[in-house]
Amino acid sequence: MPSAAAVTTPLRRGAAAAAAAVARARGPASARALSAWAQVEMGPPDAILGITEAFRRDTDPRKMNLGVGAYRTDEGKPYVLSAVKKAEAALLAQNLDKEYLPITGLAKFTAAAAELAYGADSPALGRLATTQSISGTGALRIGGAFLARFRGSQPTVYLPTPTWGNHAAVFRDSGLKIGSYRYYDPATGGLNLGAMLEDLRALPKGSIVLLHACAHNPTGVDPTPAQWREIQSAVEEGQHLAFFDMAYQGFATGDADRDAAALRAFVAAGQTPVVLAQSFAKNMGLYGERVGTFSIVGGDAAERDRLLSQLKILVRPMYSNPSIHGARIAAEVLTNAPLRSEWLGEVRLMADRIIGMRAALRSRLEQLGSARSWAHITDQIGMFCYTGLKPEQVDRLARDFHIYLTRDGRVSMAGISSTNVGYLAEAIHAVTKD
Ligand SMILES: Cc1ncc(COP(=O)(O)O)c(C=O)c1O
Repeated sequence: MPSAAAVTTPLRRGAAAAAAAVARARGPASARALSAWAQVEMGPPDAILGITEAFRRDTDPRKMNLGVGAYRTDEGKPYVLSAVKKAEAALLAQNLDKEYLPITGLAKFTAAAAELAYGADSPALGRLATTQSISGTGALRIGGAFLARFRGSQPTVYLPTPTWGNHAAVFRDSGLKIGSYRYYDPATGGLNLGAMLEDLRALPKGSIVLLHACAHNPTGVDPTPAQWREIQSAVEEGQHLAFFDMAYQGFATGDADRDAAALRAFVAAGQTPVVLAQSFAKNMGLYGERVGTFSIVGGDAAERDRLLSQLKILVRPMYSNPSIHGARIAAEVLTNAPLRSEWLGEVRLMADRIIGMRAALRSRLEQLGSARSWAHITDQIGMFCYTGLKPEQVDRLARDFHIYLTRDGRVSMAGISSTNVGYLAEAIHAVTKD
């Protein structure tokens, strides 16, 4: 028999209706006063989502959304990879159940994902503590929480300037303090290696340094292999911890091994602690499936086990265990040889289309007689181009040309196609020529 309090009697319903009627009669101000959340202020909209909303409202047929970091085909459509579709069909045919995964996720997936990142012959595979994560963002969040708990009191993570718009918020909410080091040189549209090294060397010993493994977001500026060696030396000298964020493996050069070279070099040297946030959102097009991993390179198998036990203790109260479907897809693609080679071919195709669009945009701007140098468009790499456009020029692109991007001048190259690249070049030329 349910307790009296749990039952909504006609009398109680009547009382609630009467209270609502009184509130209505008193007007909206007193209705607000009854709320428990009157003190909660309206927060600012997310920069990227705001752009998408403005884009949706625009009815001009020439409109372009260059804000969102998701791949589009040359027809401007979202792309579900053929390898992913085949993997999904194979999974469906197996009539699998939907039971809970273990706290650290699907072992077949985490093992294959670690191999993809660190390399099949990596000396670290046997001592890696890896947990499945809610894509790259979730991996960063687990990593932040782990470091907040185990890297001294109130540790600081140092981020490149600029960096992905969510990094600071993710790490702050994980309990880390936020610092920065110089990275991008607006004068050249390239890397400011000297300033970066100077800043890394000036950090307190044992700092946490966030490094984009490849396809730096938002600048598209990656260090060369020689520059990476200098960065690695500076990190090692400072006995810093390298926190790699690898959200675009394969997307930068089209070659998943090449894109992981910096991570692998740090691990091979073995001079510095390494942790990794890995995402399959972009390179498998599994954006909404939220598939990723967080891993820590341990010293030996016993240390790995201790690290894993603590990762479980962190994850359990966050979300208990990760979702199963996307991890199964990624595991199938990674471990089924024909699917894996089809996938790697598709990654290359996506990367090549973007590289082609960079060349097309630059040459159209040059053909239009732009007096500026646009070499950085083709020098930069990955999904984004940091155009150097000023906020007012970005505003004009939206107002006069129906072209939407973030006010830092970042263009998502994946949103450009052979049919609209000419229009984009004309628009950029128009807003930059005077
Ligand atoms: C640098 C960087 N890290 C992490 C992420 C996280 O992406 P997701 O959570 O979709 O895997 C992104 C996505 O844009 C990114 O650009």
